[in-house]
Amino acid sequence: MNHDPNTQQESTALRLFRDYREFQQLQHIYHAAIQEIRMRLEVLNDEFSVTYQRSPIHHIESRLKTAGSIVEKMERKGIPLTVENAKARLNDIGGIRAVCNYIDDVYAVEKMLLRQGDITVVKRQDYIQTPNYNGYRSLHLDMRVPVYLSERTEYVVVELQIRSVAMDFWASLEHDLRYKADVATLPEGINEEMLQCADEIAAIDRKMQDMYRRIQEAK
Ligand code: GTP
Ligand code: MG
Repeated sequence: MNHDPNTQQESTALRLFRDYREFQQLQHIYHAAIQEIRMRLEVLNDEFSVTYQRSPIHHIESRLKTAGSIVEKMERKGIPLTVENAKARLNDIGGIRAVCNYIDDVYAVEKMLLRQGDITVVKRQDYIQTPNYNGYRSLHLDMRVPVYLSERTEYVVVELQIRSVAMDFWASLEHDLRYKADVATLPEGINEEMLQCADEIAAIDRKMQDMYRRIQEAK
């Protein structure tokens, strides 16, 4: 058996794609969609800092799902393995995360971006208004965006997560802890403590937001 990661990636990809080239084409389109959204967010952030002397976005991250991860998710959801199904049924082949300074910035960034007429939101999940069972907070926007190719325009769906630095702090560590933990041997009370941490961090987030507002009003 060959354990070379590239060869493994190629053989997994071949369960879904006709050939490796077809996988590269899909990657290219989603990479382009990610770049498009990143660039639009950066333009808005720069404009904001020119106008208001501060940036709503702290930083932007992005990632492309690997072939293995696409195949795994499709199998888990019982979706027949075709490229068309992957594009139509998975909203997170391309993922972008905009981490903002304050809670208000999350909604300000959403509003600025969605003014753009060629972007359509296909699914909106506001986990700030309604946090997950474990306290996870973030605004998720699954958006259909155009990718202008040489001879046609392709529309693909990418997932944008917008959250504050505080929400990101919790989500990053929770993710890290969850992957380190063996669910079967999870010490008692951990889930409750995770939720408690999320609530405490959220309270601090609101406090920082409130201080920022008061400072602005006093100016
Ligand atoms: P699918 O997108 O089809 O998987 O289902 P969904 O739309 O219900 O998923 P959702 O958009 O709610 O969550 C997808 C992503 O959000 C994950 O890949 C994570 O990045 C993030 N996420 C959701 N819940 C949690 C959580 O409890 N902890 C952390 N750290 N991240 C989470
Ligand atoms: Mg999702």
